[in-house]
Amino acid sequence: MAMDRYVITGKQRLEGKIRVSGAKNSSLPLLAAAILGEGTSTLLEIPDLVDITHMVEVLEHLGCGVVRQGKTMQINAGGLESCEVDEALMRQMRASNLILGPLLARFGRVKISRPGGCAIGSRPMDQHIKGLEQLGVKVREKHGYIEAWTDHLQGADVYLDVPSVGATENIMMAAVLAKGVTVIRNAAREPEIVDLQNFLNKMGAKVRGSGLDAIRIDGVEKLHPAEHIVIPDRIEAGTHMIAAVMTQGDVVIENVIPEHLEPVIAKISQAGARVTLMDDSIRVQQRGRIRSVDLKTMPYPGFPTDMQPQFMAMLSCAEGTSIITETIFENRFQHVDELRRMGAKITVEGRTAIIRGVQTLEGAFVEATDLRAGAALFLAALAAEEVTVLEKVNYIDRGYENLEEKYRQLGAKLLRIHQEG
Ligand code: EPZ
Repeated sequence: MAMDRYVITGKQRLEGKIRVSGAKNSSLPLLAAAILGEGTSTLLEIPDLVDITHMVEVLEHLGCGVVRQGKTMQINAGGLESCEVDEALMRQMRASNLILGPLLARFGRVKISRPGGCAIGSRPMDQHIKGLEQLGVKVREKHGYIEAWTDHLQGADVYLDVPSVGATENIMMAAVLAKGVTVIRNAAREPEIVDLQNFLNKMGAKVRGSGLDAIRIDGVEKLHPAEHIVIPDRIEAGTHMIAAVMTQGDVVIENVIPEHLEPVIAKISQAGARVTLMDDSIRVQQRGRIRSVDLKTMPYPGFPTDMQPQFMAMLSCAEGTSIITETIFENRFQHVDELRRMGAKITVEGRTAIIRGVQTLEGAFVEATDLRAGAALFLAALAAEEVTVLEKVNYIDRGYENLEEKYRQLGAKLLRIHQEG
């Protein structure tokens, strides 16, 4: 499908306030968790993103009634009847695999087509399957489909080989209706996991320990619907912080939970930017060039991989040489070639990138290859000389709500050109 493009005039200093939307990576598991409540749950502050639309399509396909009013989403899971999701729907967004746990808990059966890999990695599901099998689920993978079924879920002691966010979420959502106690060890500790725990407990579940490395779940008979406000998107907030730095700006980023941004704040401050924390907002000011810093992506509370491309764009213009190591995904340097086209001096050795800072980036024709690579190039274009044409910006629509108007308000000069076809 033809994708739209941005035409961005760089070197516009960004100033003013920008409000962060609800977290994409919390909204997606919360929407899946709504399946567990027999009735209508209400989620507030759900961002209007392509990935959310796709998850809603999956829920509707399963028989849920979903009504959106502005940022409020009502999901009626009372009428759930199907538990199969076909190829076309699954291909659109791999996070639809988060329906595995809830459907097994509600129905004891699910069939999904194996969500494909994506630009940044092969995205295996072995930890999801290992954890579900330990809860008594039978899993069969055939012809690109994953079939799972169980006549009853039994609590178990699950150890994850990698602290997978999705696997932790799927196992949590199956375990809440299992018989007995489940402990998930080496669990992911992201704030989105804590948000999911809070929603599940409002539904009557008994989950404790999210955010630490062991989560304990006491299974219950059934869950009732609940209402919940999604946490703000820490990756969107981090992206705006970098936009302020790269344009030598002065920006107040509103609707943030500062502790969710600790690793990002630490690194941006280490690079020399001036960061001021308020209760639920952060001010970022920058004058002159930032210093180079070394960076290693790690599971939370380490530096988030979802901020790595954006940070690389910023370090492309730092004083000195920086080293970035991407430890989470095996192919998350697609933005390097495009940044090079804008004059960045970057070499890649396996999972390590060496960035020699340049005085300034130059406008060029570049294209987004995935969501966060697109965000990185968007930021680079804001800071570059003259004009940048950024192709395939529909990737960016997956994770950033109302980007154009939010940035125009800050003084950015950008046009979105629709491509027909
Ligand atoms: C979530 O993906 C996020 N997506 C990703 O954000 C994020 O990059 C990632 O967590 C890591 O923080 C959503 O929450 C919807 P993982 P997820 O399972 O759950 C390996 C964005 O830009 N692994 O924690 O799929 C895997 O290969 C997206 O918003 C296994 O080996 O990530 C990867 O190397 C991109 N076996 C690592 O773990 C498994 O069964 C982390 O993956 C599962 C994962």
